[in-house]
Amino acid sequence: AKDMGADLQQVLITKEEIDAKLGELAAKIDAEYAGKDLLIVGVLKGAVMVMADLARALSTPVTMDWMAVSSYGAGTQSSGVVRILKDLDTDIKGRHVLIVEDIIDSGLTLSWLINNLGSREPASLKVCTLLRKPDAAKVAIDVEWAGFDIPNEFVVGYGLDYAEKYRNLPFVGTLAPHVYGG
Ligand code: PRP
Ligand code: MN
Ligand code: MG
Repeated sequence: AKDMGADLQQVLITKEEIDAKLGELAAKIDAEYAGKDLLIVGVLKGAVMVMADLARALSTPVTMDWMAVSSYGAGTQSSGVVRILKDLDTDIKGRHVLIVEDIIDSGLTLSWLINNLGSREPASLKVCTLLRKPDAAKVAIDVEWAGFDIPNEFVVGYGLDYAEKYRNLPFVGTLAPHVYGG
């Protein structure tokens, strides 16, 4: 579709709500890491928007690194098979590491990532996610900072895609049924 708006069903979380929530999360993260050297790790590609906005909401000086993993491919269901498409550039041994995600759905991606990064002996390893779907969880994950709990519906926008599209919507919303049909 030429107009992304025509593909949308409903706006779930507005840009203003996202901004306000990231401000709250940033204040808590600042308090937690005061005086510490913090590395934030964004999970490509979905977490790009959260990383960019959260990083700017923080007062704590951070360094940034990126991991690219994918478990969804082009579909709407998690395959459970996580592939590393790009590893960290940095050695995280002894570092305070905060994983930043756009969404925890089944939890399979993050569960795998926590195990993987945890085995590299960071000083600490915590998780911040903008969105979480409690009803979709297949594995329990200890999340330090979660922005919004949302219903078990497929959502797009603010980094989240359907078949690589809709990531650049400034809000989080659901897609109209006709988008999946075609
Ligand atoms: C999405 C999302 C999370 C993950 C959550 O990434 O960005 O990383 O799925 O799903 P889970 O909790 O069921 O594992 P995706 O694999 O689609 O890659 P992308 O970030 O490049 O879109
Ligand atoms: Mn992702
Ligand atoms: Mg995706």
